[in-house]
Amino acid sequence: MQLRQFTRKTTQSVEGIMVAPRSWDEMSGVYPNATETQPTLLAVGGGKGGVGKTLVTTSIGIAMAQQGKRVVLIDLDLGGANLHSSLGVRDSRASLNDLFGSAEQLGDLVIETGIEGLGMVSGAHDALNIANLPFQQKEKLVRHLRKVDADYVILDLGAGTTYNTLDFFIAADIGIVTTIPEPTSIENTYCFIKSAFFRLLNAPGQPQDVRQVIQEALLRRHDDALSIRSASDLVREIERIDPVYGRTLKIRLRQLDLRLVLNQVLDTADIQLGRSMEMVTRRYFGLEMPVLGCILHDRSVQRSVRAQRPFMLEYPNSRAAATFEQIARSVMQGEE
Ligand SMILES: Nc1ncnc2c1ncn2[C@@H]1O[C@H](COP(=O)(O)OP(=O)(O)OP(=O)(O)O)[C@@H](O)[C@H]1O
Ligand SMILES: [Mg+2]
Repeated sequence: MQLRQFTRKTTQSVEGIMVAPRSWDEMSGVYPNATETQPTLLAVGGGKGGVGKTLVTTSIGIAMAQQGKRVVLIDLDLGGANLHSSLGVRDSRASLNDLFGSAEQLGDLVIETGIEGLGMVSGAHDALNIANLPFQQKEKLVRHLRKVDADYVILDLGAGTTYNTLDFFIAADIGIVTTIPEPTSIENTYCFIKSAFFRLLNAPGQPQDVRQVIQEALLRRHDDALSIRSASDLVREIERIDPVYGRTLKIRLRQLDLRLVLNQVLDTADIQLGRSMEMVTRRYFGLEMPVLGCILHDRSVQRSVRAQRPFMLEYPNSRAAATFEQIARSVMQGEE
């Protein structure tokens, strides 16, 4: 494939929630063997289906590749893989399925997209068994993702809050939350953040009394997405019960690097919504989720989807394409 040669940076990162914390060093991301070069993992998620996760994945990926980075997109929508068609890629012989069968490395499954610097891994088509991956297989997949020979690996996640989706989202270095300015989507977004928060808190290995406090908090008014008004209080409570464990949790929460992409915006009121979501997330969850960008609603997106041509290539001069370029730049700047 046409991935450029590139001097890669050194990163240190935590493997994610899937690994039970064994030591303070591990919880704080200080691995003894973490000096080898690794790609930065971005995960594109969001509570609701059809809000533009695949559009965001492909467009940021293309924008990064056009700006000289080596990027691999991975279709992790294990229930409804369609990344290949949105890129107009017909070669889907190799897919994630093979990783759980014959393929040795995830790199073996990377196929060309026809765009210089951009490769992709197709999702599993016969998703029945893979849509509910056992824990060890997820761990294995994350290890493989970290070994992909690229600067950025971008995960296109499925909708909803399944453990698969949450675990890959949490395991990524940067979690891009995608939403549209509609009440159901916003509600689902908070529900997604809440689920990720609790999934992280519920990582294996916590002391019994801490587990109990978390379970009690989970049961409290769980029908309301914002019911854990005391999310930060809960962490404080955990810290009070078990100071060491509480501190490690705080570190993990701090490592949850969330960014918001508001898609299909129509007017300035929608843009303001991004800022209020940022505020609510800080207030209720104690998490920072800066707005990465607001993508205009643009009919050309539908046209490009129908033509099975990437939007960024079909309409490179549109305002939406310029926003994606800006988003890609700001993610890359944060990494340098
Ligand atoms: N900025 C936009 N302007 C206009 N239409 C858009 C925009 N973004 C997305 N769409 C429309 O929404 C549809 C869904 O987008 P996309 O497939 O990227 O969403 P998704 O979140 O990946 O969906 P799924 O949950 O099914 O995987 C697109 O096919 C397109 O018709
Ligand atoms: Mg999608």
